[in-house]
Amino acid sequence: MNSFSIPLAAIAKIALPVFLFSALATAQQGLDAETQAKILKGYQAAPVPLNLTGRDATLVGLGSYIVNYVGECNGCHSAGPPTEYVVGGNPFLGQKIKVNPVTYLGGTRDFGAFPDPAGPFPHIVSRNLTPDKTGRAAGGMKLDEFVTLMRTGVDLDKLHPTCKGAPDTKCIPAPFSGELLQIMPWPAYGNMTDRDLQSIYEYLSAIPCIEGGPGEPANRCVLGPKTTAVAGPKNTTAFSKWLQLDGSQSTTTGGGALTYQWSIPAGSPTAGISGANSAKPNVQLGGGGGLYTFLLTVTDSSGNTSMDSTTINYQGN
Ligand code: HEC
Repeated sequence: MNSFSIPLAAIAKIALPVFLFSALATAQQGLDAETQAKILKGYQAAPVPLNLTGRDATLVGLGSYIVNYVGECNGCHSAGPPTEYVVGGNPFLGQKIKVNPVTYLGGTRDFGAFPDPAGPFPHIVSRNLTPDKTGRAAGGMKLDEFVTLMRTGVDLDKLHPTCKGAPDTKCIPAPFSGELLQIMPWPAYGNMTDRDLQSIYEYLSAIPCIEGGPGEPANRCVLGPKTTAVAGPKNTTAFSKWLQLDGSQSTTTGGGALTYQWSIPAGSPTAGISGANSAKPNVQLGGGGGLYTFLLTVTDSSGNTSMDSTTINYQGN
């Protein structure tokens, strides 16, 4: 038995989502048995669906192994012990472990005022490590920024500077450096190999985005509204010169109402449009038999527009 066949045989015994089979096989090729075993365990460990599009499957598997089984990042980077596990899935209560995907690596666990819980100092709150809409780990961090942060502990978001005067609940007093992340075990993690840190980054880029977290903007997960005009009816032959256009299949993800504007491009026979600002205007084809083209422009509440056209083949006169 060669070393490659061992983990693949093991896969058959566990319930791994189908889409991971090929990623896992790819990830394990040409690696030593120990690394292969870590990758397999990594994929088993992930408590959330992973988006592997454009990701290195080897690094994602290794990163999951480190994040979930070694670093236990979620212990601090979930919202706190009461919601870290789903109800009935808390291993400390003797239950079979089931990590809560809703809070998984989303941060917001409050470690209290630092350095003295009774003093007028800022609370140290774990950060949201999930990717944002850019698809990059920890709210859009670049790989080199992430590696530097893990190695040096420098807080890129500068959430709690060192006090220059009296403490004011926003700054951290000397001798602590407010420029550095506190509580976060970067002095240990920072000694990992480049590949290990890159793996963590790759895994954190593949997990689902969660909203919220200190210093995070609203709607960090949301791509800008996507608005699509759909002009209808499509591929229609008309025998009457009266008909109704239909733009009601147009969509927007932005919420809010769409506005409609129908028009007739130059070169198309004339037609009367009644209700050119509505989703379903009535038209009267006025130029005899032929091809009539209508343009629909829809605009969403943020001002994004999209255009579509439809052509009607009028068989009348
Ligand atoms: C002991 C608790 C603890 C553990 C374990 C922990 N962290 Fe943290 N981490 C924190 C806290 C708290 C902060 C914010 C510190 C501050 O504000 O000074 C933080 C901040 C970070 C940041 C900065 C994020 C940003 O947006 O600037 C990153 C990245 C990070 N942690 C990654 C990790 C990774 C990866 C692991 C596991 C390998 C991990 N942490 C494990 C407590 C922890």
